[in-house]
Amino acid sequence: MRVLSGIQPSGVLHLGNYFGAMKQHLELQHEHECFFFIANYHSLTTIQDAGRLRQLTVDVAIDYLTLGLDPAKAAFFRQSDVPEVTELAWILSTVTGRGLLERAHSFKDKVAKGLPVNMGLFSYPLLMAADILIYRSHLVPVGRDQVQHIEMTQDMAGYFNSIYGEVLVRPEPRLNETPVVPGTDGQKMSKSYGNIIELFGPAKAVKKTIMSIKTDSTPVEDPKDPERCNVFALLKLLAPGDEMAEWERRYRAGGLGYGEAKKRLAELYEERFGPYREKRAEWAARPDDVEDVLRTCGQRARRVACEVMEDVRRACGIITAR
Ligand code: ADP
Ligand code: TRP
Repeated sequence: MRVLSGIQPSGVLHLGNYFGAMKQHLELQHEHECFFFIANYHSLTTIQDAGRLRQLTVDVAIDYLTLGLDPAKAAFFRQSDVPEVTELAWILSTVTGRGLLERAHSFKDKVAKGLPVNMGLFSYPLLMAADILIYRSHLVPVGRDQVQHIEMTQDMAGYFNSIYGEVLVRPEPRLNETPVVPGTDGQKMSKSYGNIIELFGPAKAVKKTIMSIKTDSTPVEDPKDPERCNVFALLKLLAPGDEMAEWERRYRAGGLGYGEAKKRLAELYEERFGPYREKRAEWAARPDDVEDVLRTCGQRARRVACEVMEDVRRACGIITAR
């Protein structure tokens, strides 16, 4: 079973990214053959500042290594170290109808918001399909927002295979059970909403952010509905089950101030993520080792990709001097 997923290097990582995506990636490396890559070509559709893209790419690599990604287990590399994906994306575009891409939520959302849409954003699902198909991946762990892209990938593999024969493998999405992680304002935690709790933020600043989480104005003595509380939702991600049962009881009984729950949340955050700050600083001080991991894993991934591309080219009659 080959597992693959991509991560866009697009900003500071937060608890939503961790519980929604990274945690699963890190667990899967112990169970399957894994390929995880930094989707820097995809990020070009939104980040058009070379220095920033370079920095964000290194940052996300350091973040994953800090949290325990083991390059001996999972290949962890840059998308751009396997440039063949762009060739496959082109070939897929020749068997895919325009209508399929026009139905992509990611594209429609941008149009609905009146945002400018470059061709990269429009053809984003083609490149994502190429990322997946080029390694003959079986399973793609993603968040709910990405499922449509996996379904499109299945369609594209089908179009190609029906014309040229059974060359590409149809992947399946793998959804994690983590519900959407709320941000400090109660909306989905997202860097674009300015409501994040950083994964590696300085202790004092994170505590301040946690203490500022929005709650309702129910007086301390009144009973509270845990299911409607952002602090409770975040506590659930970090506290053990028996502790949560006790919080639930106390919420419902009344006499509990939200401040107390926030303080405990800050404490649990610190216990879980505090120790990583130092580890992260250690990786950040070893840029050559980070580069070495990415380069070596990239070579490993590229060998697989080149074999699949040979089959693809042969199937569709593309001759190269390679
Ligand atoms: P952001 O919304 O901050 O821009 P991304 O869209 O880059 O985050 O998300 C990267 C990954 O993290 C995706 O797989 C996504 O499903 C997951 N993710 C992001 N925010 C959340 C959240 N609030 N809850 C659960 N998963 C999330
Ligand atoms: N589109 C994904 C995201 O924004 C990132 C991504 C690019 C990806 N290529 C992929 C995810 C291939 C899984 C498989 O989160």
